[in-house]
Amino acid sequence: MAGRLEGKIAIITGGGGAMGGAQAALFAKEGAAICVADVNRDAAKDVSDKINADGGRALPYELDVRSSEAWAEAVTVTEQTFGNVTTLCNNAGANFRVSFDEQTEEQWHTIIEIGLTGAFLGIKAVVPSMRKAGNGVILNMGSLASIRPGGGSPGYGAQKMGMVGLTRSAASSYAKDNIRCVIISPGHVDTPFIRGDNPHSPNNWETSIDNPENYERRKSNTPLGRLQVPEDLANAFLFAATDEAAMITGSMITVDGGSAL
Ligand SMILES: NC(=O)c1ccc[n+]([C@@H]2O[C@H](COP(=O)([O-])OP(=O)(O)OC[C@H]3O[C@@H](n4cnc5c(N)ncnc54)[C@H](O)[C@@H]3O)[C@@H](O)[C@H]2O)c1
Repeated sequence: MAGRLEGKIAIITGGGGAMGGAQAALFAKEGAAICVADVNRDAAKDVSDKINADGGRALPYELDVRSSEAWAEAVTVTEQTFGNVTTLCNNAGANFRVSFDEQTEEQWHTIIEIGLTGAFLGIKAVVPSMRKAGNGVILNMGSLASIRPGGGSPGYGAQKMGMVGLTRSAASSYAKDNIRCVIISPGHVDTPFIRGDNPHSPNNWETSIDNPENYERRKSNTPLGRLQVPEDLANAFLFAATDEAAMITGSMITVDGGSAL
């Protein structure tokens, strides 16, 4: 039986990360060829190697989403390796979990540049390729902060609310080219983003879900009773990437166990 993404060619940013990696594996299983793009080359290579070992088609690519030149190269290499790009997943993101008073100008710029400018540059880079393909789907990673940013990190709230506007703008602009754009918003997902101490998303005992108090607080904020896992999100990304979602554009799909209710 043909896969649900047979013939599709996807660039997945943050592809070496937990959610991007799960999307890459699932999309490849469903027949897509994947450019696993991440600023962390080793992480991209690990995800890509696993896909190729499992019989899929993947290419690891070191990409800093903040660079338009790097984006142009990533699209060229993907086209030369697999063909025209049909699918883009903008997962790369950053956060610094400090209050408005404490957030520095540098932290603000990092969050906005990786999460929002990176997605904008990615869309601009892939659209010409999608036009050549005759179809395209752009999937943006949202958050609970895309619905109710609250009083935490102001850069994160602005980035994730900005992603709603970027999604609608791209959906309106490119519907005529048969290109859809959807934002998918997770709740609390058990990944290194909220567990580990990463350069793009530092955590300490105060913020990490390694701290049982934080884990339980996030769990009790989830009416369906558990944190999400990367595969919960990958399934929604898959649906949105297929023609089953042919009439869905500009909208948000929440995968949050009810946290936003
Ligand atoms: N985990 C959660 O609870 C949660 C909830 C809502 C939204 N999100 C969003 O999900 C995304 C993170 O995914 P994750 O939870 O799998 O985290 P993750 O830390 O496992 O993955 C993030 C990946 O992005 C990569 N990255 C960072 N900066 C980059 C750059 N400049 N260019 C290219 N790649 C870069 C990292 O190397 C990493 O592999 C972010 O957009 C985040 O805002 C996460």
